[in-house]
Amino acid sequence: MVRKSPFGYLGLFSFVAFFFFCSSWNWGNNYSALSEYRKTSNRLASSESEKSFDDEENELSREFNSSEHNDSSPLSHHANNQSVSKIEDSTNLNKTALLSSHQANNQSLSKKNIYYINGTYAVLNPWYGWQPEIHPMDCSWQFCMMDNHTSKTCRDSMEDMAVSNSSSIDPGEDWIPDVTMLRRMFLDGYDANGHLWPPQLEDELCHALGKNTSTKKLLDEAKIVGAPISRMPEKKNNKILCFTYTMEKNHATSIRAMRETWAPGCDGFLAFSTKSDPRIPAISIPHKGREGYRNMWQKVRSMFQFVGKHYLSQFDWFYIGGDDLVVFPQNLKKYLGTYNSSQPFYLGRRFKRGAEIGYNTGGAGYVLSRPALQCLLEHLEDKSCEPKKKTSSEDAKTATCLRLACNITYEDTRDDQKRERFHHWSAEREYEYDGKSKFWNGLNKDWGLLLGKDSCSPETVNFHYIKNPGLARYLFHYVQGGCVRSE
Ligand SMILES: *[C@@H]1O[C@H](CO)[C@@H](O)[C@H](O)[C@H]1NC(C)=O
Ligand SMILES: *[C@@H]1O[C@H](CO)[C@@H](O)[C@H](O)[C@H]1NC(C)=O
Ligand SMILES: *[C@@H]1O[C@H](CO)[C@@H](O)[C@H](O)[C@H]1NC(C)=O
Ligand SMILES: *[C@@H]1O[C@H](CO)[C@@H](O)[C@H](O)[C@H]1NC(C)=O
Ligand SMILES: *[C@@H]1O[C@H](CO)[C@@H](O)[C@H](O)[C@H]1NC(C)=O
Ligand SMILES: *[C@@H]1O[C@H](CO)[C@@H](O)[C@H](O)[C@H]1NC(C)=O
Ligand SMILES: *[C@@H]1O[C@H](CO)[C@@H](O)[C@H](O)[C@H]1NC(C)=O
Ligand SMILES: *[C@@H]1O[C@H](CO)[C@@H](O)[C@H](O)[C@H]1NC(C)=O
Ligand SMILES: *[C@@H]1O[C@H](CO)[C@@H](O)[C@H](O)[C@H]1NC(C)=O
Ligand SMILES: *[C@@H]1O[C@H](CO)[C@@H](O)[C@H](O)[C@H]1NC(C)=O
Ligand SMILES: *[C@@H]1O[C@H](CO)[C@@H](O)[C@H](O)[C@H]1NC(C)=O
Repeated sequence: MVRKSPFGYLGLFSFVAFFFFCSSWNWGNNYSALSEYRKTSNRLASSESEKSFDDEENELSREFNSSEHNDSSPLSHHANNQSVSKIEDSTNLNKTALLSSHQANNQSLSKKNIYYINGTYAVLNPWYGWQPEIHPMDCSWQFCMMDNHTSKTCRDSMEDMAVSNSSSIDPGEDWIPDVTMLRRMFLDGYDANGHLWPPQLEDELCHALGKNTSTKKLLDEAKIVGAPISRMPEKKNNKILCFTYTMEKNHATSIRAMRETWAPGCDGFLAFSTKSDPRIPAISIPHKGREGYRNMWQKVRSMFQFVGKHYLSQFDWFYIGGDDLVVFPQNLKKYLGTYNSSQPFYLGRRFKRGAEIGYNTGGAGYVLSRPALQCLLEHLEDKSCEPKKKTSSEDAKTATCLRLACNITYEDTRDDQKRERFHHWSAEREYEYDGKSKFWNGLNKDWGLLLGKDSCSPETVNFHYIKNPGLARYLFHYVQGGCVRSE
């Protein structure tokens, strides 16, 4: 078996690109929450019997159509209610007891964190409903998309995060993040202060890139569409946890943009960072070796272990990627829905050179079904999985481990016209690639590359190398139908 790293060269490229775009040495990169609510409520109000999934869906849909969910923040709604706030207070005060009870039941904070009392939801998570400050724009989104912009109103300023007292926010070492928080906030539609959440994306974004850019041409010509994030309960066996690697300084920029765009379309979301911040939620987890791009494999190993320990049974799919990704969650979920999540799958954008074991590039992010992640975790310490290796090519290492230890390999994730769904490149680069690079062609030798508008499926899942938060917002808005298309 050839075991040379297929990534050496590409690793260098990624590193350079990464350095460029993220300008940092470090890290670049329901059934839904509704059913969870209902399940929790069933447990608490034991008089209700378990309903069929369809009944549940209708009922929840009615509930969320009711005016209760648009007149005020659910939190302020509860604020005046003594019986509810009593629970909130006592629990908040005794976080230690709350956490240890979760741990005893092997549950993350999220499940037990919501109570359904007499027709309303009470939320026990003290950080639930937080969003960074939103200033009225004093400049254009076009300006905000320049990497060197100076405006503080572009929704990417560190000051908006207001970490004035980090000691009151740092949850400590035993903390298990509430990964369904963003999804629940999305369903509620309001933040803790009664403001719309996620914040609206202005139509001005539609023009921010200008009319004749490759990005816009690709979106239009490839007819890339993504339905708005669904408020309906997710189909059984199709729940996804999306998690990303990042660092603290990106919390205010790329991670904020993720939170406010695509992340709530995942059933769970968590940022693995250099600093814990439960408002995001982001967690800093220990790993072997130094923090840094060159030690990516060790960080990703720790991420998989953490996810496996705390969230394995709650989700069917696990999508890992960097913080310069934009994802279209409805396309992702629709596509995943075509697979049986009870079987091992490893999905993403495959690269393969010659006889080497191929891999799904970390640039596009990749998805593991629960059985695939389970097998990976069981073998993470095997010699063939190189547990001590210090390398940036986490993607190739994951692929090698899956292949050698679990006999799991990548799938062809193109659509029926051989257009790719997962993208290692930005939309701009996909559109502009002239097909002349031996290196890139080599990585795609076994299946070939289509160029220009044919490079991307209309049901594209992601783009990579999102240079700034404005671009992430633009792409998300455009693909969701928020802008009038040229043709
Ligand atoms: C809820 O509202 C949506 C959109 O307005 C509508 O399509 C759906 O039928 C409604 N559901 C129920 C149960 O009323
Ligand atoms: C809230 O819902 C009611 C009933 O569906 C509707 O009449 C009203 O316009 C909504 N208000 C807002 C602010 O969306
Ligand atoms: C407070 O809760 C009680 C009992 O749960 C409920 O009857 C009452 O309507 C609630 N009041 C408000 C203001 O939500
Ligand atoms: C928190 O709860 C635990 C267990 O119920 C109890 O032993 C402890 O004294 C409580 N701590 C505080 C500060 O109330
Ligand atoms: C929690 O997990 C541990 C180890 O995975 C297991 O031994 C224990 O029985 C579990 N506890 C419950 C209540 O499921
Ligand atoms: C729900 O409301 C009923 C009567 O309105 C009350 O008796 C009951 O205690 C309430 N339940 C909770 C958990 O507050
Ligand atoms: C910012 O970058 C643009 C090009 O991307 C350049 O035209 C402009 O002069 C730069 N502004 C500042 C203040 O550096
Ligand atoms: C910061 O938070 C800690 C813990 O909650 C508290 O003891 C301290 O007084 C806070 N400091 C300020 C300046 O708010
Ligand atoms: C748009 O860009 C293309 C190159 O991609 C160029 O040939 C064309 O002239 C441009 N059109 C306008 C109106 O600028
Ligand atoms: C999915 O795979 C599992 C495990 O192999 C199998 O038991 C189940 O029947 C499959 N479901 C469908 C719908 O094929
Ligand atoms: C590995 O998987 C392939 C394809 O599913 C199968 O044909 C082969 O028998 C498997 N090899 C082993 C050693 O299980």
